Amino acid sequence: MEIREVDVHDEPSLHRYWEIGKLADAASRPYDFFAPWESARMSYVHGRDDVRFELLGAYDGSTMVGAGRVDLNLLDNLHAAYVEVWVDPSWQRRGVGRALEAECVQVARSQARRTLMTEAYAPIGQESPGTRFAEATGYAPGLEDAMKVVDLVETEPTWAALEAKAAEAVGDYRVVTWRDHVPDEYLDDYCRLNEMFFDEAPTGEMDVQNEVWDAQRVAAREERNRLTGRHELSAGAVSPDGRLVAVTEAIVNVRAAQRGHQSGTLVEPAHRGHRLGLAVKLANHRQIREAFPQCRVLLTGNADVNAPMNAVNTQLGYRDVERCVELQKTLG
Ligand SMILES: CC(C)(COP(=O)(O)OP(=O)(O)OC[C@H]1O[C@@H](n2cnc3c(N)ncnc32)[C@H](O)[C@@H]1OP(=O)(O)O)[C@@H](O)C(=O)NCCC(=O)NCCS
Repeated sequence: MEIREVDVHDEPSLHRYWEIGKLADAASRPYDFFAPWESARMSYVHGRDDVRFELLGAYDGSTMVGAGRVDLNLLDNLHAAYVEVWVDPSWQRRGVGRALEAECVQVARSQARRTLMTEAYAPIGQESPGTRFAEATGYAPGLEDAMKVVDLVETEPTWAALEAKAAEAVGDYRVVTWRDHVPDEYLDDYCRLNEMFFDEAPTGEMDVQNEVWDAQRVAAREERNRLTGRHELSAGAVSPDGRLVAVTEAIVNVRAAQRGHQSGTLVEPAHRGHRLGLAVKLANHRQIREAFPQCRVLLTGNADVNAPMNAVNTQLGYRDVERCVELQKTLG
């Protein structure tokens, strides 16, 4: 077996690379949230300003049987590399994953990255090939998240009562929504909220540092979303003095608009206790229903220890569907 870098301009190879990830994901996870081919292709070919990635293929002769990826952040977390490994299900348990992971370590070392991070999914209450593999290759769990889904159609009838409940505490805060472009008047506050994210959300033992955000990074992400068919739907809360103090974001890809990804939600510490977390998520659920009526489920992940976020998600009807273990190893 040979490990080679995958040339993103060699479309058959890139497609096989993507397919291995999709097959391995489908064999081990309950919901299909894998990126559609066209979006993945565009992401790989277009590249990113904030992350350099290296794609590795494991070959048996001319057949690619495993796929690895190393992400190197370029703007922050310069000590870390993020690693993903997938092996075609019909080739698993023959050492392909181990060989790919070893090559990922070499890539990280060559860039002086000392902390390798990865995620492994598993059924609730169980281990999986992914968690076993991570353990076998020297990664230690740093944070346990629960992956959750909410059915927007089924839960919509509950929203009015929840909005009334949120309204009792929201007071003089204003809930706003936007789509695809962060409004200029909130841009500075939006960057500040993003930069405090890892201080505020539980990170367990994971050695992550706060991200660095500015107008250019926001614009680059918006352009990437446009190129890859992703729509970002967001809601925020504005304080009585006009500052954006809470935000929540979800992504719906036009090529797979039956489902979306709910990403971060953050309420600035000084503004907690006004049910802003619930209010902004409800506003965003309504916005998603209106813009993408075909979007039925949202997937999210949040740390088991994150009681306030879990309380909001439970009220909204999110239910646990699998474990996500965040893991890391430090290179000596
Ligand atoms: C995890 C994955 C990459 C492993 O690929 P693989 O080629 O089968 O892994 P290897 O054969 O190199 O296994 C290396 C070690 O991992 C552990 N392991 C791998 N699969 C396992 C399984 N199904 N059950 C128990 N242990 C397993 C074993 O310790 C194994 O060593 P051994 O065979 O000498 O006992 C593959 O199952 C996969 O693609 N899963 C879906 C994506 C994923 O979870 N990626 C990894 C996230 S960290």
